[in-house]
Order: sequence, then C-alpha cells, then structure tokens
Amino acid sequence: ITVAILFGGCSSEYEVSLKSATAVLENLNFEKYDVLLLGITREGQWLQYSGSIDHIQDDTWHQRKECLPAFIAPCRQIQGVVALYNDVMKTTKVDVVFPILHGKNGEDGTVQGLLELAGIPFVGCHSLSSAICMDKDIANILAASSGVKTPQSVTVYKNTDADKVIAAAQAIGFPLYVKPAKAGSSIGITKAYNAAELVSGLENAFNYDDKVVIVENIEGFEVGCAVLGNKDVIVGEVDEIELFEAFFDYREKYSLKSSLIHVPARVEQEIAEKIKATAIQLYQAFGCRGFARVDMFLTPANELVFNEINTIPGFTTKSRYPSMLRSAGISYKELLDTLILLAME
Ligand code: DAL
Ligand code: MG
Repeated sequence: ITVAILFGGCSSEYEVSLKSATAVLENLNFEKYDVLLLGITREGQWLQYSGSIDHIQDDTWHQRKECLPAFIAPCRQIQGVVALYNDVMKTTKVDVVFPILHGKNGEDGTVQGLLELAGIPFVGCHSLSSAICMDKDIANILAASSGVKTPQSVTVYKNTDADKVIAAAQAIGFPLYVKPAKAGSSIGITKAYNAAELVSGLENAFNYDDKVVIVENIEGFEVGCAVLGNKDVIVGEVDEIELFEAFFDYREKYSLKSSLIHVPARVEQEIAEKIKATAIQLYQAFGCRGFARVDMFLTPANELVFNEINTIPGFTTKSRYPSMLRSAGISYKELLDTLILLAME
C-alpha cells in the first residue's frame, strides 16, 4: 500500500502539523507501507521530500536537496503525486493519502476536495464535514439543530457596526471569548473581560479570519471524546482538561505548564457515557468519517455544551486523541493502521 503523508501546510498551525507528522512517521509500519512524503511550506509550496524525519521535526526539511516540486493531480487518470525532476514529470500512484494538516488549507475541506477530485482515498472526514467543523459559526448552528446545547454566540465581520457588536457582547455578558471562525489550537482567541478587551480581541481575531465569533464563557470544564470509524464507530475514554489559569491558550496547550489533562476524565460513569453518546450523535450529525475529537463543556449542573469538532486532531503520541484511544486499549500504531483501513473502505 502506498501512503502519501501530507504535512506542514499554509496554516497558523504549521508547527503543530510538523509535530503530529513526526509522530506518525516514527510509528508507521514501513514494512507494510510504501511512504511518500509531501510537505507544504508555510507559503503554500508543495514539495515531495525524501530526507530524514529529523528535518521535519526541526523544520529545515524544505531547505534540503531531497525536495522536488510536486503536487497531487486533481484528475482521476493519475490518482497520485506528480513530482517535477529537472522539469520532467514523474508520477507515483498512491493508494491512500494521510493529511496530517491542522487548521486552514488542510483540515478545512480544501485539501479534502482536491483529493475527492483526484479520486484518491484519504484518511479523515470528507470535504463537506471538514469545512463545517472548521467554521465555528456554522458548526454551532448544526450542533444546535442536532439537539445539543450550544453557547450563546454572535458572528461578526470587519464591517459589522461597532455599537452593535458591543451591544451583542453585553447581552452575552463578560467574560466572553473572541475567536476567529476558522482557526485551531486557540490561535487568535482572546478571553475578554470588558469592552476594551473585546475590541482588541476582535482586532487580533481578524488577523486570522474575516469572520469572527463572540462566544459565551461556559462555567465548568472542557471534556473531549475521541471518535473512530466510518458508519460504525468506537470511542476512546473521555478526557478532561483541568485548568489552573483562565484560558487554555496555544502556549498552554503545547506546554501544559499550568493545566492537566486527565484520561479518563474524573467524572461518574453515567456522565462519561453521556459524553460518549453525545460525541457520537455530533459526529454522525456532522457527517464525520475516519476520526475526530469532539470537544464539549461539562457544566456544574452536568449539562453538556458543544464546543467544537476537530477533524484532524493533534496527533503526537501524547496528544489528546491518541491518549483517549490508548486508554481504551488501542495503541498509537494500531490506530494508524485502522485509520488507513477506514480510508480505503
Ligand atoms: N487544532 C489542534 C491540532 C487540535 O485540535 O488538537
Ligand atoms: Mg481545535
């Protein structure tokens, strides 16, 4: 089986992708798969890379001589990767693509649409559910319509009247979150305690997206559920984020200096079952396949409130998704094999 691994990406989560991809490559069974590496630079250049994993980890891969300009042909005659060697086209048919890309231009349905055009099976959600899950505005609407409680939220654009924005925020109540509609890893997110912080939060969020959501702060804590499968799904143990500071931001997510992730979550069995059932309900309502991490808040009254669905969740061996499945008896290596099989179903 020839597997093309896509890594990097023209996204604010480029570095996170390098970490996830390194872990995938360190654990993939190279006796079972022929692996072709396709890196995408921060600027969006696609390169076939045949060097060592170390240079992916230290982000020097794109400067190496083992790089050739390459692309995935968006046509079914080729169903693979076209690399240019001294202007001569070399094509390699691939059986499956594993996009380990987080955020924009990778997790948001764009690459998935290209792979659908190319007729190449790939790991993870199709273009539509990838796009819906990426957009926090649309995702909230769909989650609510599937019967799951959602936080109060308003959607604003650069030209939305400032007085209206402040009135809407006051109706929600401070503190609240200001989030780019389409981004990940908490990049561009501000927890705003007053109107001045709301204004600077909006300015920050608009650096990442033209659409921004202002979202109610939910009392309680965040829980996650790893869902794996196409039509029939299994779930991992539920996890829980224990925060000692106000907000689980980018730095905290990847350093865990003042927070703890508990797997399994320290909740009663009945609550854990409710989290799992709600995660499956959302996964199916959003048309997900392959895998996704469903994030929700658990309130002090044991109510579940939707947060988001990550269709290519952080994927280092220590990341939440693989940890939740490991806790349910599925190793990281088994997980990789399963995802590739699910992609080709
Ligand atoms: N967006 C990051 C990678 C996550 O959800 O894990
Ligand atoms: Mg996310």
